Amino acid sequence: MAVGIDDLSLYVPRLYVDAEDFANARGIDAAKLQRGLGIEQMAIVDANQDPACLAANACLQVMQKNKLSPEDIGRLYVATESALDESKAMNSYVIGMLEQVYGSGSFQHCGGIECKFACVSGSYALYDNSNWIRAGESEGKHALVVVSDIAKYDLGSSGEVTQGAGAVAMLLNDSPRLLEFDPKVTSTSIKNEYDFYRPFGKETPIVHGQYSNMLYLIQVKNALVDYERKAVATNLIKPKDGETILDYIDYINMHLPYSNMGKKALAYLVRHEWRKTPRWTKIIQSVGMDEPVPKDPRGTIESVLADTEFMQKDAEFTKRFAKTEEYQDVYESKVASSLLASRMIGNLYTASLYLGFRSTLEFEFQKGVDLEGKRFGFASYGSGSSAMVFSGVIMPEYKEAVKDMNIEVELGQRKKLSLDEYEQIHENKLTPDQPLLNAQKEFILVDIGTKPESRGERRYRFAE
Ligand code: COA
Repeated sequence: MAVGIDDLSLYVPRLYVDAEDFANARGIDAAKLQRGLGIEQMAIVDANQDPACLAANACLQVMQKNKLSPEDIGRLYVATESALDESKAMNSYVIGMLEQVYGSGSFQHCGGIECKFACVSGSYALYDNSNWIRAGESEGKHALVVVSDIAKYDLGSSGEVTQGAGAVAMLLNDSPRLLEFDPKVTSTSIKNEYDFYRPFGKETPIVHGQYSNMLYLIQVKNALVDYERKAVATNLIKPKDGETILDYIDYINMHLPYSNMGKKALAYLVRHEWRKTPRWTKIIQSVGMDEPVPKDPRGTIESVLADTEFMQKDAEFTKRFAKTEEYQDVYESKVASSLLASRMIGNLYTASLYLGFRSTLEFEFQKGVDLEGKRFGFASYGSGSSAMVFSGVIMPEYKEAVKDMNIEVELGQRKKLSLDEYEQIHENKLTPDQPLLNAQKEFILVDIGTKPESRGERRYRFAE
Protein backbone atom coordinates (compact mmCIF):
# COMPACT_ATOMS: atom_id res chain seq x y z
CA MET A 1 0.00 0.00 0.00
CA ALA A 2 1.24 3.49 -0.86
CA VAL A 3 1.98 5.66 2.18
CA GLY A 4 3.71 8.99 2.33
CA ILE A 5 3.70 12.73 2.90
CA ASP A 6 0.72 14.45 1.32
CA ASP A 7 1.67 18.00 2.31
CA LEU A 8 3.64 19.89 4.92
CA SER A 9 3.62 23.32 6.59
CA LEU A 10 6.34 25.30 8.28
CA TYR A 11 5.96 27.71 11.19
CA VAL A 12 8.91 29.87 12.21
CA PRO A 13 8.86 32.62 14.86
CA ARG A 14 9.47 36.08 13.41
CA LEU A 15 12.20 37.25 15.78
CA TYR A 16 15.78 36.55 14.77
CA VAL A 17 19.37 37.20 15.68
CA ASP A 18 21.70 38.19 12.88
CA ALA A 19 24.93 36.17 12.62
CA GLU A 20 27.12 39.24 12.20
CA ASP A 21 25.67 41.05 15.24
CA PHE A 22 26.04 37.86 17.24
CA ALA A 23 29.65 37.32 16.17
CA ASN A 24 30.55 40.93 17.01
CA ALA A 25 28.97 40.64 20.46
CA ARG A 26 30.79 37.39 21.23
CA GLY A 27 34.13 38.45 19.73
CA ILE A 28 33.99 35.73 17.05
CA ASP A 29 34.91 36.24 13.40
CA ALA A 30 31.57 36.53 11.56
CA ALA A 31 33.08 34.42 8.75
CA LYS A 32 33.15 31.44 11.12
CA LEU A 33 29.35 31.57 11.35
CA GLN A 34 28.63 32.56 7.77
CA ARG A 35 31.23 30.54 5.87
CA GLY A 36 32.38 28.00 8.46
CA LEU A 37 28.96 26.91 9.77
CA GLY A 38 26.61 28.37 7.14
CA ILE A 39 24.53 30.52 9.50
CA GLU A 40 23.08 33.94 8.57
CA GLN A 41 20.10 34.25 10.92
CA MET A 42 18.78 32.29 13.91
CA ALA A 43 15.02 32.34 14.60
CA ILE A 44 14.18 33.08 18.25
CA VAL A 45 10.84 32.56 20.02
CA ASP A 46 9.00 35.54 21.48
CA ALA A 47 8.17 35.74 25.20
CA ASN A 48 4.68 34.36 24.49
CA GLN A 49 5.74 31.33 22.44
CA ASP A 50 6.77 27.82 23.39
CA PRO A 51 7.30 24.63 21.35
CA ALA A 52 3.62 23.65 21.72
CA CYS A 53 2.53 26.99 20.16
CA LEU A 54 4.94 26.49 17.27
CA ALA A 55 3.56 22.98 16.72
CA ALA A 56 -0.08 24.09 16.90
CA ASN A 57 0.56 26.94 14.44
CA ALA A 58 2.17 24.55 11.93
CA CYS A 59 -0.76 22.08 12.34
CA LEU A 60 -3.37 24.79 11.85
CA GLN A 61 -1.62 25.97 8.69
CA VAL A 62 -1.47 22.54 7.10
CA MET A 63 -5.11 21.84 7.99
CA GLN A 64 -6.36 25.20 6.68
CA LYS A 65 -4.29 24.95 3.49
CA ASN A 66 -5.83 21.54 2.74
CA LYS A 67 -9.33 22.47 4.02
CA LEU A 68 -9.25 19.60 6.50
CA SER A 69 -11.50 19.29 9.52
CA PRO A 70 -10.65 17.40 12.74
CA GLU A 71 -12.61 14.34 11.45
CA ASP A 72 -10.00 14.05 8.68
CA ILE A 73 -7.20 13.58 11.23
CA GLY A 74 -6.93 10.20 12.98
CA ARG A 75 -3.62 10.67 14.78
CA LEU A 76 -1.63 13.65 15.96
CA TYR A 77 1.96 12.96 17.05
CA VAL A 78 4.38 15.59 18.30
CA ALA A 79 8.08 14.81 18.09
CA THR A 80 10.22 17.17 20.17
CA GLU A 81 13.19 17.41 22.49
CA SER A 82 11.80 20.58 24.09
CA ALA A 83 9.28 18.78 26.32
CA LEU A 84 7.19 20.97 28.64
CA ASP A 85 6.23 18.32 31.17
CA GLU A 86 7.64 15.01 32.46
CA SER A 87 4.24 13.35 32.05
CA LYS A 88 1.75 15.34 29.98
CA ALA A 89 2.41 14.93 26.25
CA MET A 90 2.84 17.92 23.97
CA ASN A 91 0.18 16.72 21.53
CA SER A 92 -2.43 17.27 24.26
CA TYR A 93 -1.54 20.97 24.44
CA VAL A 94 -1.66 21.14 20.62
CA ILE A 95 -5.09 19.51 20.53
CA GLY A 96 -6.26 21.96 23.21
CA MET A 97 -5.18 24.86 21.02
CA LEU A 98 -6.66 23.43 17.81
CA GLU A 99 -9.97 22.86 19.60
CA GLN A 100 -10.14 26.61 20.32
CA VAL A 101 -10.49 27.01 16.54
CA TYR A 102 -12.37 23.81 15.60
CA GLY A 103 -14.57 23.42 18.70
CA SER A 104 -14.30 21.72 22.05
CA GLY A 105 -14.08 17.92 21.75
CA SER A 106 -13.54 18.05 17.97
CA PHE A 107 -10.29 16.01 18.24
CA GLN A 108 -11.62 13.51 20.80
CA HIS A 109 -11.19 10.59 18.39
CA CYS A 110 -7.62 11.54 17.53
CA GLY A 111 -4.96 9.42 19.23
CA GLY A 112 -1.31 10.29 19.61
CA ILE A 113 1.69 10.76 21.83
CA GLU A 114 4.79 12.89 22.25
CA CYS A 115 7.93 11.18 20.93
CA LYS A 116 11.46 11.74 22.18
CA PHE A 117 14.87 10.77 20.83
CA ALA A 118 16.71 14.08 20.36
CA CYS A 119 16.54 15.17 16.72
CA VAL A 120 15.63 11.75 15.23
CA SER A 121 12.25 11.20 16.91
CA GLY A 122 10.26 12.87 14.11
CA SER A 123 11.54 10.24 11.71
CA TYR A 124 10.49 7.42 14.04
CA ALA A 125 7.08 9.15 14.35
CA LEU A 126 6.70 9.25 10.57
CA TYR A 127 7.65 5.58 10.33
CA ASP A 128 5.26 4.46 13.08
CA ASN A 129 2.38 6.48 11.67
CA SER A 130 3.06 5.15 8.17
CA ASN A 131 2.69 1.67 9.60
CA TRP A 132 -0.60 2.66 11.28
CA ILE A 133 -1.84 3.53 7.79
CA ARG A 134 -0.28 0.39 6.23
CA ALA A 135 -1.98 -1.71 8.91
CA GLY A 136 -5.34 -0.49 7.61
CA GLU A 137 -6.27 1.25 10.86
CA SER A 138 -6.63 4.78 9.52
CA GLU A 139 -10.13 4.43 7.99
CA GLY A 140 -9.17 6.97 5.33
CA LYS A 141 -8.00 9.56 7.85
CA HIS A 142 -4.64 11.34 7.82
CA ALA A 143 -1.94 11.12 10.45
CA LEU A 144 -0.55 14.50 11.42
CA VAL A 145 3.09 14.35 12.55
CA VAL A 146 4.51 17.61 13.82
CA VAL A 147 8.17 18.16 14.66
CA SER A 148 8.71 21.21 16.86
CA ASP A 149 11.66 22.52 18.82
CA ILE A 150 13.49 25.43 20.33
CA ALA A 151 17.23 24.86 19.96
CA LYS A 152 18.70 26.65 22.95
CA TYR A 153 22.28 26.48 24.23
CA ASP A 154 24.01 28.25 27.13
CA LEU A 155 25.04 31.87 26.59
CA GLY A 156 28.69 31.98 25.58
CA SER A 157 28.87 28.23 24.81
CA SER A 158 30.20 26.91 21.48
CA GLY A 159 26.68 25.68 20.65
CA GLU A 160 25.12 29.13 21.10
CA VAL A 161 25.81 29.90 17.42
CA THR A 162 23.67 26.91 16.41
CA GLN A 163 20.29 27.96 17.85
CA GLY A 164 16.91 28.40 16.15
CA ALA A 165 13.22 27.58 16.57
CA GLY A 166 10.33 26.32 14.47
CA ALA A 167 7.97 23.50 13.59
CA VAL A 168 7.05 21.45 10.52
CA ALA A 169 3.68 19.69 10.36
CA MET A 170 3.42 16.76 7.95
CA LEU A 171 0.22 15.11 6.73
CA LEU A 172 0.52 11.40 6.01
CA ASN A 173 -1.99 9.35 4.07
CA ASP A 174 -2.42 6.41 1.67
CA SER A 175 -2.63 8.57 -1.47
CA PRO A 176 0.13 11.12 -0.92
CA ARG A 177 0.48 13.95 -3.42
CA LEU A 178 4.01 14.83 -2.38
CA LEU A 179 6.22 11.84 -1.59
CA GLU A 180 5.60 8.12 -1.29
CA PHE A 181 7.91 6.29 1.13
CA ASP A 182 9.94 3.41 -0.31
CA PRO A 183 8.75 0.27 1.48
CA LYS A 184 10.91 -2.10 3.53
CA VAL A 185 14.15 -0.10 3.38
CA THR A 186 13.99 2.13 6.47
CA SER A 187 17.18 1.44 8.43
CA THR A 188 18.42 2.45 11.84
CA SER A 189 21.55 2.45 13.97
CA ILE A 190 21.52 2.94 17.74
CA LYS A 191 24.04 3.14 20.60
CA ASN A 192 23.96 4.43 24.18
CA GLU A 193 26.00 7.67 24.02
CA TYR A 194 26.38 11.03 25.81
CA ASP A 195 27.25 13.33 22.90
CA PHE A 196 24.39 15.75 23.70
CA TYR A 197 21.81 15.38 26.45
CA ARG A 198 19.61 17.47 28.72
CA PRO A 199 19.12 16.11 32.25
CA PHE A 200 15.73 16.66 33.96
CA GLY A 201 15.13 20.29 34.89
CA LYS A 202 17.98 21.65 32.78
CA GLU A 203 16.82 24.00 30.02
CA THR A 204 19.98 23.77 27.90
CA PRO A 205 21.92 20.68 26.88
CA ILE A 206 25.32 19.37 27.91
CA VAL A 207 27.13 19.06 24.59
CA HIS A 208 30.36 17.54 23.36
CA GLY A 209 30.17 19.24 19.98
CA GLN A 210 33.06 17.70 18.04
CA TYR A 211 32.30 14.25 19.48
CA SER A 212 28.66 14.70 18.46
CA ASN A 213 29.61 15.74 14.93
CA MET A 214 31.71 12.60 14.47
CA LEU A 215 29.14 10.31 16.07
CA TYR A 216 26.48 11.73 13.74
CA LEU A 217 28.62 10.81 10.71
CA ILE A 218 29.33 7.28 11.96
CA GLN A 219 25.72 6.54 12.94
CA VAL A 220 24.32 7.84 9.65
CA LYS A 221 26.91 5.83 7.72
CA ASN A 222 25.93 2.67 9.67
CA ALA A 223 22.26 3.23 8.86
CA LEU A 224 23.12 3.89 5.20
CA VAL A 225 25.02 0.59 4.97
CA ASP A 226 21.91 -1.20 6.23
CA TYR A 227 19.69 0.81 3.90
CA GLU A 228 21.89 -0.31 0.99
CA ARG A 229 21.58 -3.94 2.04
CA LYS A 230 17.77 -3.66 2.22
CA ALA A 231 17.46 -1.67 -1.01
CA VAL A 232 19.42 -4.32 -2.91
CA ALA A 233 17.65 -7.24 -1.19
CA THR A 234 14.21 -5.85 -2.06
CA ASN A 235 15.27 -4.94 -5.64
CA LEU A 236 14.41 -1.30 -5.02
CA ILE A 237 17.85 -0.31 -6.26
CA LYS A 238 20.23 -2.47 -8.26
CA PRO A 239 23.62 -0.79 -8.47
CA LYS A 240 25.74 -2.05 -11.38
CA ASP A 241 29.47 -2.70 -11.10
CA GLY A 242 31.31 0.44 -10.07
CA GLU A 243 28.12 2.18 -8.92
CA THR A 244 26.97 2.98 -5.41
CA ILE A 245 23.59 3.36 -3.80
CA LEU A 246 24.01 7.15 -3.74
CA ASP A 247 24.05 7.18 -7.57
CA TYR A 248 20.37 6.17 -7.36
CA ILE A 249 19.28 8.80 -4.86
CA ASP A 250 18.54 12.10 -6.61
CA TYR A 251 18.33 14.31 -3.50
CA ILE A 252 19.77 13.76 -0.05
CA ASN A 253 18.34 15.53 2.99
CA MET A 254 20.51 15.47 6.09
CA HIS A 255 19.84 16.41 9.68
CA LEU A 256 21.05 20.03 9.85
CA PRO A 257 22.07 21.33 13.30
CA TYR A 258 23.67 24.04 11.14
CA SER A 259 23.60 24.36 7.39
CA ASN A 260 27.20 23.28 6.67
CA MET A 261 26.73 20.01 8.57
CA GLY A 262 24.93 18.87 5.41
CA LYS A 263 28.11 19.44 3.37
CA LYS A 264 30.25 17.71 5.99
CA ALA A 265 27.93 14.70 6.14
CA LEU A 266 27.67 14.46 2.36
CA ALA A 267 31.47 14.45 2.00
CA TYR A 268 31.77 11.71 4.64
CA LEU A 269 29.07 9.49 3.10
CA VAL A 270 30.29 9.99 -0.46
CA ARG A 271 33.88 9.17 0.56
CA HIS A 272 32.63 6.02 2.25
CA GLU A 273 30.68 4.94 -0.83
CA TRP A 274 33.15 5.95 -3.55
CA ARG A 275 36.18 4.46 -1.80
CA LYS A 276 35.06 1.00 -2.92
CA THR A 277 34.59 1.95 -6.59
CA PRO A 278 37.09 2.30 -9.49
CA ARG A 279 36.36 6.06 -9.65
CA TRP A 280 38.28 6.49 -6.36
CA THR A 281 41.69 6.20 -8.10
CA LYS A 282 40.91 9.24 -10.24
CA ILE A 283 39.54 11.15 -7.23
CA ILE A 284 42.69 10.49 -5.22
CA GLN A 285 44.72 11.85 -8.15
CA SER A 286 42.60 15.03 -8.21
CA VAL A 287 42.85 15.42 -4.43
CA GLY A 288 46.63 15.07 -4.68
CA MET A 289 47.11 13.20 -1.38
CA ASP A 290 46.30 9.78 0.03
CA GLU A 291 43.32 9.44 2.29
CA PRO A 292 44.70 9.72 5.85
CA VAL A 293 44.17 6.90 8.35
CA PRO A 294 44.07 7.41 12.16
CA LYS A 295 47.01 6.03 14.21
CA ASP A 296 44.52 3.58 15.71
CA PRO A 297 41.98 2.84 12.95
CA ARG A 298 39.89 0.71 15.30
CA GLY A 299 40.08 3.28 18.13
CA THR A 300 37.30 5.19 19.87
CA ILE A 301 35.89 8.54 18.76
CA GLU A 302 37.92 10.13 21.58
CA SER A 303 41.15 8.53 20.35
CA VAL A 304 40.48 9.68 16.78
CA LEU A 305 39.66 13.24 17.92
CA ALA A 306 42.84 13.26 20.04
CA ASP A 307 44.93 12.17 17.05
CA THR A 308 45.67 15.76 15.99
CA GLU A 309 47.94 14.77 13.12
CA PHE A 310 45.18 12.64 11.59
CA MET A 311 42.49 15.27 12.27
CA GLN A 312 44.52 17.97 10.51
CA LYS A 313 45.34 15.76 7.54
CA ASP A 314 41.74 14.59 7.31
CA ALA A 315 40.48 18.19 7.35
CA GLU A 316 42.92 18.98 4.53
CA PHE A 317 41.83 15.89 2.57
CA THR A 318 38.15 16.79 3.03
CA LYS A 319 38.81 20.37 1.90
CA ARG A 320 40.53 19.18 -1.29
CA PHE A 321 37.98 16.41 -1.87
CA ALA A 322 35.15 18.95 -1.59
CA LYS A 323 36.75 20.92 -4.43
CA THR A 324 36.82 17.99 -6.89
CA GLU A 325 34.48 18.24 -9.85
CA GLU A 326 32.89 14.90 -8.94
CA TYR A 327 32.02 16.00 -5.40
CA GLN A 328 30.87 19.44 -6.54
CA ASP A 329 28.48 17.77 -9.01
CA VAL A 330 26.95 15.64 -6.28
CA TYR A 331 26.80 18.54 -3.84
CA GLU A 332 25.16 20.96 -6.28
CA SER A 333 22.67 18.46 -7.68
CA LYS A 334 21.71 16.50 -4.55
CA VAL A 335 22.19 18.69 -1.46
CA ALA A 336 22.76 22.43 -2.08
CA SER A 337 19.05 23.41 -2.19
CA SER A 338 18.31 21.64 1.11
CA LEU A 339 20.76 23.90 2.96
CA LEU A 340 19.30 27.28 1.99
CA ALA A 341 16.44 27.54 4.50
CA SER A 342 18.66 26.46 7.39
CA ARG A 343 20.96 29.45 6.71
CA MET A 344 17.99 31.81 7.26
CA ILE A 345 16.38 30.05 10.22
CA GLY A 346 18.99 28.04 12.09
CA ASN A 347 18.73 24.83 14.10
CA LEU A 348 15.26 23.32 14.57
CA TYR A 349 16.45 20.05 16.19
CA THR A 350 13.71 17.51 15.21
CA ALA A 351 12.41 19.80 12.48
CA SER A 352 15.82 20.50 10.88
CA LEU A 353 15.75 17.52 8.53
CA TYR A 354 12.24 18.41 7.37
CA LEU A 355 13.10 22.08 6.95
CA GLY A 356 15.83 20.80 4.61
CA PHE A 357 13.29 18.67 2.72
CA ARG A 358 10.98 21.64 2.42
CA SER A 359 13.94 23.77 1.26
CA THR A 360 14.83 21.30 -1.51
CA LEU A 361 11.24 21.17 -2.74
CA GLU A 362 10.86 24.93 -2.83
CA PHE A 363 14.22 25.91 -4.31
CA GLU A 364 14.39 23.09 -6.89
CA PHE A 365 10.82 23.91 -7.98
CA GLN A 366 11.79 27.59 -8.30
CA LYS A 367 14.71 26.54 -10.54
CA GLY A 368 12.16 24.85 -12.81
CA VAL A 369 13.39 21.30 -12.11
CA ASP A 370 10.77 18.60 -12.69
CA LEU A 371 10.84 16.60 -9.47
CA GLU A 372 8.31 13.93 -10.43
CA GLY A 373 9.75 10.44 -9.90
CA LYS A 374 12.90 11.74 -8.17
CA ARG A 375 14.10 9.71 -5.22
CA PHE A 376 14.74 11.63 -1.98
CA GLY A 377 16.99 10.08 0.67
CA PHE A 378 16.66 11.16 4.31
CA ALA A 379 19.54 10.90 6.79
CA SER A 380 18.12 11.54 10.25
CA TYR A 381 20.28 11.76 13.39
CA GLY A 382 19.45 12.16 17.06
CA SER A 383 22.05 12.44 19.80
CA GLY A 384 22.10 9.88 22.50
CA SER A 385 22.22 8.33 19.81
CA SER A 386 20.36 6.94 16.81
CA ALA A 387 20.30 7.46 13.06
CA MET A 388 17.58 6.54 10.58
CA VAL A 389 17.96 6.40 6.80
CA PHE A 390 14.93 6.07 4.52
CA SER A 391 13.76 7.24 1.13
CA GLY A 392 10.77 8.10 -0.97
CA VAL A 393 9.76 9.12 -4.46
CA ILE A 394 8.10 12.38 -5.54
CA MET A 395 4.55 11.88 -6.79
CA PRO A 396 3.01 13.22 -10.04
CA GLU A 397 0.72 15.61 -8.09
CA TYR A 398 3.55 17.16 -6.06
CA LYS A 399 3.14 20.58 -7.67
CA GLU A 400 -0.20 21.06 -5.90
CA ALA A 401 1.64 21.02 -2.58
CA VAL A 402 4.82 22.78 -3.69
CA LYS A 403 3.70 25.56 -6.05
CA ASP A 404 2.84 28.09 -3.32
CA MET A 405 5.80 27.38 -1.05
CA ASN A 406 7.75 30.56 -0.38
CA ILE A 407 9.82 30.68 2.76
CA GLU A 408 10.46 34.41 2.56
CA VAL A 409 6.74 35.18 2.33
CA GLU A 410 5.97 32.71 5.12
CA LEU A 411 8.62 34.19 7.40
CA GLY A 412 6.83 37.51 6.92
CA GLN A 413 8.16 40.71 8.37
CA ARG A 414 10.89 39.56 10.71
CA LYS A 415 12.22 41.62 13.59
CA LYS A 416 15.96 41.66 14.10
CA LEU A 417 16.74 41.49 17.81
CA SER A 418 19.41 43.56 19.48
CA LEU A 419 21.80 41.38 21.47
CA ASP A 420 20.29 42.88 24.59
CA GLU A 421 16.75 41.84 23.60
CA TYR A 422 18.01 38.39 22.60
CA GLU A 423 19.71 37.85 25.95
CA GLN A 424 16.60 38.99 27.85
CA ILE A 425 14.53 36.38 26.01
CA HIS A 426 17.23 33.73 26.35
CA GLU A 427 17.49 34.24 30.11
CA ASN A 428 13.67 34.14 30.49
CA LYS A 429 13.53 37.71 31.78
CA LEU A 430 10.32 38.46 29.85
CA THR A 431 6.93 36.99 30.80
CA PRO A 432 4.24 35.94 28.25
CA ASP A 433 2.51 39.32 28.69
CA GLN A 434 5.67 41.12 27.50
CA PRO A 435 6.04 39.95 23.88
CA LEU A 436 8.13 41.97 21.45
CA LEU A 437 5.74 41.41 18.54
CA ASN A 438 1.97 41.61 18.09
CA ALA A 439 0.75 38.11 17.32
CA GLN A 440 -1.79 37.79 14.51
CA LYS A 441 -3.80 34.72 13.57
CA GLU A 442 -1.63 32.42 15.62
CA PHE A 443 -1.60 30.63 18.94
CA ILE A 444 0.23 32.28 21.82
CA LEU A 445 1.02 31.34 25.39
CA VAL A 446 -0.97 33.42 27.87
CA ASP A 447 0.38 32.23 31.20
CA ILE A 448 1.82 29.34 33.19
CA GLY A 449 0.23 28.41 36.53
CA THR A 450 2.30 28.98 39.67
CA LYS A 451 -0.12 27.96 42.49
CA PRO A 452 0.67 24.58 44.10
CA GLU A 453 -2.52 22.98 42.70
CA SER A 454 -2.00 24.30 39.16
CA ARG A 455 1.78 24.66 38.86
CA GLY A 456 2.89 24.30 35.24
CA GLU A 457 -0.61 24.55 33.74
CA ARG A 458 -0.27 26.38 30.47
CA ARG A 459 -3.00 28.53 28.99
CA TYR A 460 -3.01 29.47 25.34
CA ARG A 461 -5.17 31.63 23.12
CA PHE A 462 -5.63 32.18 19.42
CA ALA A 463 -4.68 35.81 18.68
CA GLU A 464 -7.10 37.14 16.02
N1 COA B 1 36.35 31.77 8.86
C1 COA B 1 35.79 30.76 8.17
N2 COA B 1 35.58 29.52 8.70
C2 COA B 1 35.95 29.32 9.99
C3 COA B 1 36.55 30.34 10.76
C4 COA B 1 36.74 31.61 10.14
N3 COA B 1 37.28 32.63 10.82
N4 COA B 1 36.79 29.82 12.00
C5 COA B 1 36.38 28.53 11.99
N5 COA B 1 35.87 28.24 10.78
C6 COA B 1 35.28 26.97 10.33
C7 COA B 1 36.09 25.77 10.80
O1 COA B 1 37.14 25.45 9.90
C8 COA B 1 35.01 24.69 10.83
O2 COA B 1 34.79 24.23 9.52
P1 COA B 1 34.87 22.62 9.20
O3 COA B 1 33.83 21.98 10.09
O4 COA B 1 34.56 22.54 7.77
O5 COA B 1 36.25 22.23 9.57
C9 COA B 1 33.75 25.46 11.24
O6 COA B 1 34.04 26.84 10.98
C10 COA B 1 33.41 25.30 12.71
O7 COA B 1 34.57 25.59 13.45
P2 COA B 1 34.95 24.74 14.75
O8 COA B 1 36.28 25.19 15.21
O9 COA B 1 34.72 23.30 14.51
O10 COA B 1 33.82 25.32 15.72
P3 COA B 1 33.53 24.98 17.23
O11 COA B 1 34.64 24.27 17.89
O12 COA B 1 33.07 26.26 17.83
O13 COA B 1 32.31 23.93 17.18
C11 COA B 1 30.15 23.00 16.76
C12 COA B 1 31.29 23.88 16.22
C13 COA B 1 29.11 22.79 15.69
C14 COA B 1 30.71 21.65 17.18
C15 COA B 1 29.54 23.71 18.00
O14 COA B 1 28.93 24.88 17.55
C16 COA B 1 28.58 22.87 18.76
O15 COA B 1 28.93 22.25 19.73
N6 COA B 1 27.28 22.85 18.35
C17 COA B 1 26.23 22.12 19.01
C18 COA B 1 26.25 20.61 18.79
C19 COA B 1 25.99 20.19 17.40
O16 COA B 1 25.55 20.94 16.58
N7 COA B 1 26.27 18.92 17.15
C20 COA B 1 26.12 18.38 15.82
C21 COA B 1 25.58 16.96 15.78
S1 COA B 1 23.83 16.88 16.08
